[in-house]
Amino acid sequence: MSDKKLWSGRFNEPTDQFVEAFTASVTFDQRLAPYDIQGSIAHARMLAQQKILTQAECDDIVAGLECIATQIEQGTFVWSVAQEDVHMNIEAALTAAIGETGKKLHTGRSRNDQVATDIRLWLRDEIQAVCTALQQVQSAILDIAAREADTILPGFTHLQTAQPITFGHHMLAWFEMLQRDTSRMNDCAARMNQMPLGAAALAGTTYPIDRDLTASLLNFSAPCRNSLDAVSDRDFAIEFSAAASLILLHLSRMSEELIIWSSAQFGFITLSDGFCTGSSIMPQKKNPDVPELIRGKSGRVFGHLMALLTLMKAQPLAYNKDNQEDKEPLFDTVDTLRGSLKVFAAMLPTLTCNQTAMRNAALQGFATATDLADYLVRKGLAFRDAHDVVGRVVAHCVQAGCDLADLSLEYLQGYNHLIAADVYDYLTLEGSVAARNHVGGTAPDQVRQAIAAARQSLKIRTHSD
Ligand code: ARG
Repeated sequence: MSDKKLWSGRFNEPTDQFVEAFTASVTFDQRLAPYDIQGSIAHARMLAQQKILTQAECDDIVAGLECIATQIEQGTFVWSVAQEDVHMNIEAALTAAIGETGKKLHTGRSRNDQVATDIRLWLRDEIQAVCTALQQVQSAILDIAAREADTILPGFTHLQTAQPITFGHHMLAWFEMLQRDTSRMNDCAARMNQMPLGAAALAGTTYPIDRDLTASLLNFSAPCRNSLDAVSDRDFAIEFSAAASLILLHLSRMSEELIIWSSAQFGFITLSDGFCTGSSIMPQKKNPDVPELIRGKSGRVFGHLMALLTLMKAQPLAYNKDNQEDKEPLFDTVDTLRGSLKVFAAMLPTLTCNQTAMRNAALQGFATATDLADYLVRKGLAFRDAHDVVGRVVAHCVQAGCDLADLSLEYLQGYNHLIAADVYDYLTLEGSVAARNHVGGTAPDQVRQAIAAARQSLKIRTHSD
């Protein structure tokens, strides 16, 4: 392939060598090649349909592009920095391969609508893959939830013991986060599924093109309605990054809990050796590197979101070269996100619970104090008064170093005469969780119902894919 620039006609001097490398994007945008070729084939077919190209020219172009696609796939295609980007590399290679006809492919098209189309095609596939990966994590979460539907541990607010909860219920909270993430990804995919091709450089084209045809060949729901917007819009990239950031944020919260729970002080869970590493100096260490790294990786994805926002801020219409800077943040976001989801889905099935440690922790910190207050309310006391009575009982227990359930009935009745022997049923951990038996509550029965509904929603999603 020649190094002659496809736009060199109006230039008298060669590009400065450093500028050539500085302005080139081929080192990273070659990732878009399969989508660039897919877009070009659809464009050529539309041109032939509209008699802008002959059928024979179209056939030559399609065959040439398919051959280039194979070379790229097999790693034999030679990329040239002199040809600047993925689009011009492929176009130049096409002309080198099929001759003069190759030069006709760019009729009625610009790299501006071409690149805007390529990224959307690429991202559309990536979003699909992200949604599948989310589903795998969710399914692993549900398996733990089902196994641990009756397992009791302390629930926290302010990281202080609050009320007993079931581990299954905790897992379902994770599930919900990812459920919203999936719907955000789907929203983003639906909104971005409009086709820029035909916008050409910015104003449209003078050829009698059929944009509906190209859009349908590429499975877009419609052509973008405004050519200036079509070539310059990167909202979809920002939206995707924001949705990706929320996924990483959720994974970082889950990771943080895994890290805390696997500490010696908590000892609630164990992760298998395959997902932990040791210390080069402290022989006893087993560090939860995978969740730590995911927690850390959230930072770079948030950074990419900020980079994209800043990139687009204050750009005048229409296309500006600034936009070339959208790719590396997007690519790294996708790689980081998919890698994190993949390792998370693989790690979760190795999680084992130490039910005794969870239970012992729930027995500390007066986790059933609210249940005692609720008990008094059911006996006729106003909640605020009940809160005060229980607060005083807890203060006594703190002093005496005992638990609520350790106090004798006579002693408890000294605080309030409404307390009867049945109070002990409400002070147990099992009684506490079983009592929260409503939609969204922590009772094992509710958890089992919620798991069934969640599994159903995953199944529906799989079938609708
Ligand atoms: N490599 C460019 C990008 O990523 C392609 C579009 C270039 N367009 C132009 N008019 N220079 O945005």
